[in-house]
Amino acid sequence: MLKIRLNGCGDFMEWRDAARVLLMCNVSPADVVWESGSSVESGLGFGESELPVPSPTAASPSVPPAFLDLAQTVICHSDPDRFALLYRLLWRIRSERHLIGIVSDPDVIAARKLEKSVRRDSHKMKAFVRFKEVPSRDPMERRRAFFAWFEPDHHIVARMAPFFKRRFFDMDWVIATPKGSAAWDGEELTVSDEPAEKPEIRDDADELWRIYYANIFNPARLKVKAMTAEMPKKYWKNLPEADLIPDLIANAEAKVREMAERAASQPPAFHQRLQDRMAAGGMEEPSFPEGTLEALRQDARHCTRCELHCRATQTVFGEGSQSARVMFVGEQPGDQEDLAGRPFVGPAGKVFDTVVNEVGLDRKEFYVTNAVKHFKYEPRGKRRIHQKPNQGEIQACRWWLTKEVELIKPSLVVAMGATAYYALTDHKEKLQDVRGIPIAMSSGCTLFVTVHPSYLLRIPDEARKAAELEKFKSDMASVRRLMERQ
Ligand code: URA
Repeated sequence: MLKIRLNGCGDFMEWRDAARVLLMCNVSPADVVWESGSSVESGLGFGESELPVPSPTAASPSVPPAFLDLAQTVICHSDPDRFALLYRLLWRIRSERHLIGIVSDPDVIAARKLEKSVRRDSHKMKAFVRFKEVPSRDPMERRRAFFAWFEPDHHIVARMAPFFKRRFFDMDWVIATPKGSAAWDGEELTVSDEPAEKPEIRDDADELWRIYYANIFNPARLKVKAMTAEMPKKYWKNLPEADLIPDLIANAEAKVREMAERAASQPPAFHQRLQDRMAAGGMEEPSFPEGTLEALRQDARHCTRCELHCRATQTVFGEGSQSARVMFVGEQPGDQEDLAGRPFVGPAGKVFDTVVNEVGLDRKEFYVTNAVKHFKYEPRGKRRIHQKPNQGEIQACRWWLTKEVELIKPSLVVAMGATAYYALTDHKEKLQDVRGIPIAMSSGCTLFVTVHPSYLLRIPDEARKAAELEKFKSDMASVRRLMERQ
């Protein structure tokens, strides 16, 4: 009996080199015992054999690509029997070339099961790695540094490291796990299989995740089983937002009732409001000096430039000081903004406020407005579902936006989303082609384009969501740098 010892931390090459020699020496799977580093540590270790030496005339085995794909994934599983299973498959493939395609074969079934579990673990790693900012080692602080702790079931750190490098290329990061670590410093990706220990680090980003999660949670759609399948409980302890979940579930029913009651009172239609005001004794309003933002705001209250005024509760004009240096432009007010009469006070506004605060800015310093000043929606039952404004509506409302820019004369304008970009420039490039690049405008101000915060609220995939949130944060950090340069 040959006893082959491997490190067993998901390194495919290590197993492949040993398996190739065994195959060339015609060693049957029944005559090999595989042992991994982790089984030695758990006290199951035993003496190790030297690998036999193949005859110089022995042919190197050729393996179908389907087996290679499967084996590279299965090797990451933490099951100590995976080496033996893979060697058995390899041995059998010599005489059963199409073995991997036989879905009813017990060895293939066992390997597919391990493969599925590794893929699932990898997907969860993409979704649930939460980076926390740590002090940068770069004295010039050109790159920000992040740390994440994650607890995978399998040896997937090396397999997943290139994914995180691609996605978080612009920042320095370390992902530490009990099954090894990966680190990226802008030049080199290093991976180690040394187990790490969980450090205690908190940062402000935790609050961002909590706000984000509370806002995307829809109690009316709550299905506890599906939710815990998507976000298994074992990951909760490392997710800053997870401590909200029990309360959100417990209060879901009451929240749905409250939403239904709130939604039952639809805002009065435009004509009804007009009549109510007349009946209440006329339409007298304070007057403001010509050419001021207040006078413009007053005029905008009676805007009928497009049909959207008919069904919206009120005009939602921009908010902020006339002397603001920076102007943020969104798309159009949402349901909550329409009722409150103020821009960015609903879920998208909460994400906006939090990210802006996180990069050290304060919304009070800005003028915040929208490309379109009335809420466009489609009634569905008792709810009002947001609808994108069309080109005509954006053009009609551009009149107000242009006046706001003329009066405020900001040195930096930030367009959040394609509607804002179109309203400000009349251009329709793809957002990714203009995002993050300061653009000099003919008026002398700088335009900076990013995504709309409600785009972040709509991303269903947890991993993409995490990456996009980071990118938005990095855009806001660029806005801050541009502000400091103005
Ligand atoms: N989305 C916007 O574009 N503006 C708001 O004010 C709210 C949501």
